[in-house]
Amino acid sequence: MTNRETILTALRLATDWLTGERLAEQLGISRMAVSKQVATLNGMGYRIESAHRKGYRFHSAPDLLLPEEIRFQLQTERFGQEEIHYFGELPSTNTAAKEAALSGCPEGTLFIAEHQTNGRGRRGRTWLAEASHGLCFSLLLRPVFSPRQLTLLPLLAAVAVSEAIENVSGIRAEVKWPNDLIIGGKKICGILTEAGFDLESIDYVVLGIGLNINTPAQAFPLELREIATSLAMETGAPLDRRVLARAILDCFERRYTQACAEGFDAVLDAWCERSCTLGRTVTIRQETGTLQGRAEAITPEGALVLRLPNGSSQAVVSGDLIQSSGKGLKV
Ligand code: BTN
Repeated sequence: MTNRETILTALRLATDWLTGERLAEQLGISRMAVSKQVATLNGMGYRIESAHRKGYRFHSAPDLLLPEEIRFQLQTERFGQEEIHYFGELPSTNTAAKEAALSGCPEGTLFIAEHQTNGRGRRGRTWLAEASHGLCFSLLLRPVFSPRQLTLLPLLAAVAVSEAIENVSGIRAEVKWPNDLIIGGKKICGILTEAGFDLESIDYVVLGIGLNINTPAQAFPLELREIATSLAMETGAPLDRRVLARAILDCFERRYTQACAEGFDAVLDAWCERSCTLGRTVTIRQETGTLQGRAEAITPEGALVLRLPNGSSQAVVSGDLIQSSGKGLKV
């Protein structure tokens, strides 16, 4: 932890004023250095009061996804605890994470932005999100499992984000194959995983997550209003983006550690429990055309098993689920 973060944490946890002298002593720095750090924190958007003879008192934190905010009371062992690269604006956190991965950046490094100017979605689409309404972040992973298991990672991430949303808001977001999150038939979260390989093994995976949190309906472009939603739209109240970011890191780390140690069985069970795809008749768009059938199961590799109209079954490895029968589903 930097001196600045230590000062911030001490002030946050204090129930009363903390003198500059005490903070300086605690850190082995001068009172002037403490006062400089407090000024920097105020410049970043924190509100820390200072008063002669009393010292400093924490007032409020900015609604920003600053590293100091993500790490405050973060429960994880690794993810988010080390390097966090924070951007007010950048083209895409996935692109930044991929570049960093190629220059040797370690597992667990987090790339987070208030706003992306070129947010990328699956299959070459764009991911649109207004600044500071939601979460846009990418986590750099260097998994030890086999490339064949890579298709399971997006499913794992979808389960973890759904669990985090439920822990924070009480709302159960469903997972749509392979890894969209849906509430009330509308999309709330998209996940983009991109991997690099080293001969036969995985070099890195960038896991990108875009979650609509406080987006008001009118902030969605017209063409998305029927198919997208945000947590605030569903709960009727704004949610703290920082709390959600911490919860996602926590749930993801648990599931990821479990999968690395024991395999993906538990993830697949959880995915099936949260699925809004299984049991429905679905249409899947692939590069070669569309397929329609009843979604019956998920294979140990994460492929969707369809019962086709001619009675045969087919496992679908990739594609876009563009339509499903069933009440309330819009995507
Ligand atoms: C999709 O549903 O098509 C996937 C959307 C993924 C969006 C996230 S936002 C953070 C990360 N950076 C990107 O450019 N994309 C992902």
